[in-house]
Amino acid sequence: MSRTIAASNWHPASWQGKPASQQASYPNPAELDRAVAELSRLPPIVTSWEVDSLREQIAKAQRGEAFVLQGGDCAETFDECTSENIVAKLKILLQMSVVMLYGLKKPVVRIGRMAGQYAKPRSADTETRDGASLPSFRGDLVNRSPFTAEDRVPDPALILRGYERAALTLNFVRSLIDGGFADLHHPEYWDLGWVGHSPMADEYHEIVKSISNSLDFLETISGQQVHKTQRADIYAAHEGLHLHYEQAQTRFLDRRERWYNLTTHFPWIGMRTAAVDGAHVEYFRGVANPVGIKIGPGMTKEWLQELIGLLNPNNEPGRLTLIHRFGAKAIEECLPEMIATVRETGSPVLWVCDPMHGNTESTADGTKTRRFDSIVAELESAFRVHQSMGSYLGGVHLELTGENVTECTGGARGLTDGDLARAYKSTVDPRLNYEQAMEVAMRIAGLHKDSARVNRNGA
Ligand code: PEP
Ligand code: CO
Repeated sequence: MSRTIAASNWHPASWQGKPASQQASYPNPAELDRAVAELSRLPPIVTSWEVDSLREQIAKAQRGEAFVLQGGDCAETFDECTSENIVAKLKILLQMSVVMLYGLKKPVVRIGRMAGQYAKPRSADTETRDGASLPSFRGDLVNRSPFTAEDRVPDPALILRGYERAALTLNFVRSLIDGGFADLHHPEYWDLGWVGHSPMADEYHEIVKSISNSLDFLETISGQQVHKTQRADIYAAHEGLHLHYEQAQTRFLDRRERWYNLTTHFPWIGMRTAAVDGAHVEYFRGVANPVGIKIGPGMTKEWLQELIGLLNPNNEPGRLTLIHRFGAKAIEECLPEMIATVRETGSPVLWVCDPMHGNTESTADGTKTRRFDSIVAELESAFRVHQSMGSYLGGVHLELTGENVTECTGGARGLTDGDLARAYKSTVDPRLNYEQAMEVAMRIAGLHKDSARVNRNGA
């Protein structure tokens, strides 16, 4: 691959020769260069071994042998980089993955939207309030959210602060896991404290009890501890939006003869930045990481084929994940053509459903929300369409939190528009709360007692 890249003039900064959308305009380029140079000297956040191991896991999921759970905040914030928040996110991902593992009878690959999800695409470059226009807030990696001229100026120092927060986050996650937090023998560590009597608490505890009993049984007959070899890994992912940040931590590894983006295991590219001749695709084509592409209404057959050709020219297993987010209304119409298109390319891909971003709506008073029923409806359609086309839906991509927020309506507790104000914390997209996220997991796993299963994919 390095030779191919040499021949096609790729290097970590070659994207700078292409049109880059969704980039901040820094008033002092020399300061930005200094920050990028400093960041490129600092140690990486992830290692190439981990990146390669995730690529293998994704290849397995492409073959139908595993299922991917990708979840976390729409945007992380520097303020919320606290032990409580990180632990809560880890707990919800672990709990959901246990439910899925149990129901699907397949390994579940956990990928957090975390440790670097600090930059956001915006629909407009400026925001206007009371007649005054300022640069839009593009996430903590770029500028600050208060609506003042000073706060909205892109500040290169923030890419260093973001790198530090990402490293602190992942360091804590790794320590918890190494210390036994993810041990299946001690699921009580992950208890998030069900609020009141949750409609799902009993089901969840039954699943956990059954898994513990099976583990005890296995260990008794084999005389060995199961978890010694089976540590639950958590991988990190973020949208690879801020190209200076991604570039700074991109390293050539001699022993592998490939370039790696070492800010994260799994960067993805949003549709807003997926132009085939644009800077993001140029950057992404040169790194060895497994990469995701979001696809939604507006993605065409030709565009998708070109993207696949550029990003996975050698049809490498594990390299490409397509995260589709059409919305409950459009998925049945749009997805079959995408599946047929991919098939023509010969590239293996992992299909992941993001049932969040195509289902965002506003309430009468203008609050951004998502209806639980639309989320579940899109998931149901996704499983159905893939099955009818003979392809495999191998993962789900969710915006969720371990906290008891009220940002999405519906779910077993029947949250209404009137409940949203009670605990609405997100400053970007509305997230599933703890119970809603668990309900999605149970439905995917086919374990939800009161409703039809979402997943008829064979579990
Ligand atoms: C996101 O994942 O937060 C996001 C902005 O998604 P999309 O680009 O698919 O709208
Ligand atoms: Co979002």
